[in-house]
Amino acid sequence: MKEQILALLIERDGYISGQALAEALGVSRQAVWKGINALRESGCVIESAPNKGYRLTSLPAYINEAAIRKHLATSVIGKNLIVLDSVGSTNDYLKRLGSDGCENGTVVTTREQTSGKGRLGRVWQSKRDENLAFSILLRPKLTPRDAMPVTPLAGLAVCKALRKTTGLDCKIKWPNDIIVGKKKLVGILTEMSAEFDAVEYVVTGIGVNVDQIEFPEEIAYKATSILLETGRHYDKNRLLAALLKQIEREFTRNNLELTPEALDEYVSLCATLGRSVTFKKGERTLSGAAVGVTSAGELRVMLSDGTVRTLNSGEVTVQGIY
Ligand code: BTN
Repeated sequence: MKEQILALLIERDGYISGQALAEALGVSRQAVWKGINALRESGCVIESAPNKGYRLTSLPAYINEAAIRKHLATSVIGKNLIVLDSVGSTNDYLKRLGSDGCENGTVVTTREQTSGKGRLGRVWQSKRDENLAFSILLRPKLTPRDAMPVTPLAGLAVCKALRKTTGLDCKIKWPNDIIVGKKKLVGILTEMSAEFDAVEYVVTGIGVNVDQIEFPEEIAYKATSILLETGRHYDKNRLLAALLKQIEREFTRNNLELTPEALDEYVSLCATLGRSVTFKKGERTLSGAAVGVTSAGELRVMLSDGTVRTLNSGEVTVQGIY
């Protein structure tokens, strides 16, 4: 009820009477009054005036469906939008919806994650109302290998959108961390359900540090947030809409491939290239120079003996970054 009233208040963009709200929703005036109070309790500022009714003057700053929809300008991604108060992990939640058949482009976001997941089995912290945590589900008609570019394309889109909206000099640390200077601002975790030769769905989960100012000791040296970098609070709902827009644009115009244009952009924003990197191969630790990225999004590393290795995942330590 509360979300429906909110949608009508946003649509009206001025006063609307309690009677009109009740009629539009087919409920009693009493139910409308209760809904208005619930909206006020959840952070909306709603003025009321005799004979005029109710007027919304501001939306809550925390992640909420009405505010995201107000800014959302996509055609597919986020049309089916699920906004949760709290969840273990948006990736896990969306994978369950994926197995139940939810539509291509479904997005799940939340005010907090209680067991957010990072890459390589790590924990990803998303405290209540501090950061952005969201996941996007795609159903590409591709083989698992051909679906690999989804993650670098999402990374490229997030990097470009954050450069545009915040003015920060964001770069990509291969494969898909977004960094500012030497510190990480965004992490991306893609998971897939597939048969041998066909993807059932891909879930790409994105965590953006927006307002976080303290990090656990073990990552404090390599983590940052938009607030720490700019000194400004950004509207998370508007930011999410901007990220989804850019992600959709990148996916669509490149047809989910790392096209030469997308690869050029990725390479020009990739802070890993041209640097010394260290990575693990089984028990061995190898070092070399990052010399390129393939059209599947793999990193090409030249070892000291001149041989070139192609890495498709895993952890690389980049000299001068982390
Ligand atoms: C990493 O850099 O290790 C990847 C972090 C990915 C975090 C996001 S937050 C939304 C989605 N849900 C999760 O549990 N993880 C991803």
